[in-house]
Amino acid sequence: MITGFFHEWFLIFDERSDDMIKRENNKIKIEGMDVFELVEKYDTPLYCYSEKAISKQMKTIHSVMDSLREFHLGFALKANNNIHLINYMVKNGTWIDIVNKNEYLLAREGGTPPEKIVVNGNGKTKAFIREMIEEGVFSINIDSKEEYEVIREILREMDSPQGLPAFMLRVNPDVDPHTHPYISTGLKENKFGVQMDTARAILLSDNGLITGLHTHIGSNIYDIGAYQEAFETLLDLKKDFSRLNFINIGGGWGIDYEKNGKHIDLDAYTEHVLPILKQFDCPVMMEIGRFILGPSGVLLSKVLYKKVTEFKTFVVCDANMANMIRPALYNAYHHVKPLHVNSSDDEITADIVGGLCETGDRIAVNRDIEDVSTGDLLAILDTGAYGYSMASNYNAESRPAEILISDDECRLIRKRETVKDLLKKMKV
Ligand SMILES: Cc1ncc(COP(=O)(O)O)c(C=O)c1O
Repeated sequence: MITGFFHEWFLIFDERSDDMIKRENNKIKIEGMDVFELVEKYDTPLYCYSEKAISKQMKTIHSVMDSLREFHLGFALKANNNIHLINYMVKNGTWIDIVNKNEYLLAREGGTPPEKIVVNGNGKTKAFIREMIEEGVFSINIDSKEEYEVIREILREMDSPQGLPAFMLRVNPDVDPHTHPYISTGLKENKFGVQMDTARAILLSDNGLITGLHTHIGSNIYDIGAYQEAFETLLDLKKDFSRLNFINIGGGWGIDYEKNGKHIDLDAYTEHVLPILKQFDCPVMMEIGRFILGPSGVLLSKVLYKKVTEFKTFVVCDANMANMIRPALYNAYHHVKPLHVNSSDDEITADIVGGLCETGDRIAVNRDIEDVSTGDLLAILDTGAYGYSMASNYNAESRPAEILISDDECRLIRKRETVKDLLKKMKV
């Protein structure tokens, strides 16, 4: 009989039909692929993504948003910049949100046509803006009065350019999304967008260049009220300027990191937010990252040591703050599953840590997990977004490999870095 904590764990492990990892016939499989064979072939730490999961997340978004007159789903490339993942999403209809030239080039390499690219960011250079205009992107979202002036200057210099992108104004509605302060972006003290009075002043002085509004109030949001407040604020603005005919509502949907059912409530979103979006009576675009790719990826890691001190137990593994920084950066919670073919009732409370030279190098703190020993595998869940894309070379760590599983087929989509890759850049 399974009791207590392990009963719950067992349910999560074996009965959640939507989980990427399942125990089948004495094997542990990720979307049908034997996890030990994957690790044998590709080594750890290893980022694994599932096409099936990506597709499911995209369908969920469409099932909520498609009742709008015209809806465009965009993917925020910052969440994961692998060109193979981008290609899969673009082939399935997604647009791409980028913030700099490198992201633009990756989006293009992933098969995104310029007319499905939206340009964001609060630090665009003049040269970059000009290039994006020339490339024919769908939209450029203006972050400040100062950037607006730079755009006007570029257009004067270009002397009646044809086929301009749509220019949209990023509005900062001063709304608290009740998420981690580092990923709140729509409060007046945040660096993004323009305040309402500045937005009005720009729109009044503008001679028709700006034809849409943009906002993004933060990431990993569970608070439906914050979206209501933000979009109502934008709606007020739109009502006063009839030429505004497009709205980009950003992203931010929160996911169930803690595996306790806390995620954005899509029924409440449908009931309370969609009616506001319908009142815009124009095409709506979303640029979302975490909700699509977060649950579609896991980071596999090997246990190096179980270090027992008189104060604490540390599970030292080969995942660390260089290949997954979210816990170190924002105290973010990621569920960690030991992958044992035969589960046991033995439980430990441990800090799951990496091997790098920072006390903050940890994946989980005071976590109750099934007991582990050297060589065991851990799956760190919901790491498909802001995992690899925030990885670094701290302690000269090599960034991990990435694999993509699709219909019982698995392919390497990014090689593990080697010291040669690091040295190449220094041999100047
Ligand atoms: C402008 C903008 N749009 C979209 C996103 C995507 O957010 P999320 O991954 O939470 O959906 C971000 C990320 O913070 C962003 O800065």
